[in-house]
Parts: sequence; C-alpha cells; structure tokens
Amino acid sequence: MKELLQTDRLLIRTWMHDDAEALFEICRDPEVMLHIGIGEPYQSVDEAYRFLNWAVPYQAENGFCRWAVIEKSSQRIIGSCGFARLENSGEFELGYFFARKMWGKGFATEAAQACLRYGFEELRFPVVIALTDLEHTASQRVVEKLGFICRGIENYGGERNSVYVAVNPKE
Ligand SMILES: CC(C)(COP(=O)(O)OP(=O)(O)OC[C@H]1O[C@@H](n2cnc3c(N)ncnc32)[C@H](O)[C@@H]1OP(=O)(O)O)[C@@H](O)C(=O)NCCC(=O)NCCS
Repeated sequence: MKELLQTDRLLIRTWMHDDAEALFEICRDPEVMLHIGIGEPYQSVDEAYRFLNWAVPYQAENGFCRWAVIEKSSQRIIGSCGFARLENSGEFELGYFFARKMWGKGFATEAAQACLRYGFEELRFPVVIALTDLEHTASQRVVEKLGFICRGIENYGGERNSVYVAVNPKE
C-alpha cells in the first residue's frame, strides 16, 4: 500500500486486499452504484475482492488507478477517486464514488481536485476526461468546479454519456 496524496481532510492511497469489507459497505448501497458500471450494488464481498483483484495489479502496471480515499479524522475509507484508461479510445478517465452519508460535504471535489493535479503534474496526462450519465447533475457539478468543459454527448460502452474534458496546462 502506498500513500499518494493528502488534502486538508483526505488521504488518497492505493488499495489493499484488506480493504474488501470497507469497500463492500460502500458499494452495497444502490444509491451509490446507480451511476456506476451496470448500475447495480455489490451483492457480496466477493465483488469487492473482484474490484481489488483488478485494482492492485492495475496500479502496479500503470502507476495509477481508481484509488482509495480515506477521511483523515476517522481514518476510514469513505470512497474512491482516480484514473483508469479507457480501452477503446486510450483516454485517461477520472472517476469517483463516495459513501452515501458523505455526500454534500465537498469530499468529491476535494479528492478529484487533488487527483487531477497529480494526473497532470506527476503522471503527465495530456488530457483527462470524465463521463457522466446525462442527468447526473451532482457529478457534472463536481467536474465543472474543477474546470472541465463539456465536449458533448457521446457513446461509451453502448451508453450515451456527457463527456467532460480537462487539458493539462503544462503539456
Ligand atoms: C457524485 C458524487 C461523487 C458527489 O460527491 P459529493 O462529495 O457530494 O460532491 P461535492 O460535495 O464535492 O459536490 C457536489 C456538487 O453537486 C451539487 N449537487 C449535489 N446534488 C445535486 C443535484 N441533485 N442537483 C444539482 N446539483 C447537485 C452540490 O450542491 C455540489 O455543488 P456546489 O459545491 O456548487 O454546491 C456522490 O454523489 C457519489 O458518490 N455518487 C455516487 C457515485 C457516482 O455517481 N459517481 C459519479 C459517477 S459519474
């Protein structure tokens, strides 16, 4: 496990297999998963292990991932934020989710801001995109606050998404 980033209230680190129970507790909530993947909550901790079995080697191979977000004050995992590379287009996608009880406190914006800076400055991504469901105003608001611009509505994985783009100012 490696700590990567700190903000005022958050610590962002790579995942460990021991995180499965904490991840399951967040992702078993249908509200959290409504706009993620196939839109279904995790049914068992096995699905958390499946994610971690993807995330741990993905981080080792690529140097980035969707990371774990820890609330400093409680030392608990409260969500995830980070990057994955889209298979078809090769673009670097920023993604995030947080436990339901943590919504509305600015955590997504705080985590995503730190990840975006890391993506530009350390990982040297030329461009980062974010995909949201068309009606997902809260997520759209998060990326807009970070300076992303809406590129339009495009098909990804057979679904129409609002596509947001941020360009690395140093590239
Ligand atoms: C989307 C999500 C990450 C936002 O997390 P958060 O920590 O509540 O976000 P923040 O508090 O940093 O910012 C949310 C912004 O959206 C706004 N917002 C929230 N719900 C809204 C709604 N229904 N309509 C319009 N704006 C909304 C908030 O007011 C805030 O904007 P503001 O700072 O200008 O007031 C969180 O709801 C979540 O984890 N959802 C489930 C997973 C998910 O959908 N991930 C994104 C997939 S694209």
